[in-house]
Amino acid sequence: MITLVGDTEIAFDDIGSGIAVVLLHAFPLNRTMWEPQVGALVAECRCIPIDFRGFGESPHAPPYSMDRYADDVAGVLDSLQIEQAVVVGLSMGGYVAFALWRRHRHRVRGLVLADTRFTADTPEGASRRRQMIDLVRTQGSIAIANAQIASLMGATTREKRPDIYDAVHRTIAQAPVEGIAGALEAMLGRPDSAPVLPTITVPTLIVVGEEDTITPIADARALQAGIPGSRLEVLSQAGHLSNLERPAAFNTVVTEFLASLIYN
Ligand code: MLT
Repeated sequence: MITLVGDTEIAFDDIGSGIAVVLLHAFPLNRTMWEPQVGALVAECRCIPIDFRGFGESPHAPPYSMDRYADDVAGVLDSLQIEQAVVVGLSMGGYVAFALWRRHRHRVRGLVLADTRFTADTPEGASRRRQMIDLVRTQGSIAIANAQIASLMGATTREKRPDIYDAVHRTIAQAPVEGIAGALEAMLGRPDSAPVLPTITVPTLIVVGEEDTITPIADARALQAGIPGSRLEVLSQAGHLSNLERPAAFNTVVTEFLASLIYN
């Protein structure tokens, strides 16, 4: 489905019924990364995976920022007349979840923050992002796929699941150049979300792959320490894309979390 949000079209799916669950993807993927979750969760809830502007079927629409991505998510909820949703964000999706909480917190019923961090980019990190913007504009998305793929997967997946490795590589290699450049701009300009953490008053689940080297367990523990009453689940044999690498384990912890929201 595609809806007009302000100045641009945003693509999403709307599958199932019950409690609304918005799924926000990692960089530089798109909403198809949530297929293993939608397939499992659809029996219990209304799943709404969204393509950020510039990714998947959402067209390139500058300028890019976490705030604009968050406003797009709120716009999709408006178009579906959904007052509140559980927000599941993985990595960059988590950065957008923080922006959504800052700007539209009354829309958030609960949070699942997977393989993400609350800190802003360091100066060195921001400079690496600028190099990646040059790389994607000069050599295309495949260069980003080649540069990123190994770190996105845990050692176990790299060794045992070439199918997942190849599928993610293909998705990144096909991602639009300007969507990638825009997301890199948005990420390097994002604020530190440390001040946001103590303001989070909705139930929050934090998930991290034990083998995640991009946002390692230490980042997840710091998140948990900052968000009152939050819970942390560590998934063994998973790296940064824990939802794809250990889908059954990821779905179990999310399903339990959703049940705790519905029945409490
Ligand atoms: C992601 O998976 O969204 C990225 O690794 C996030 C980042 O580069 O900070």
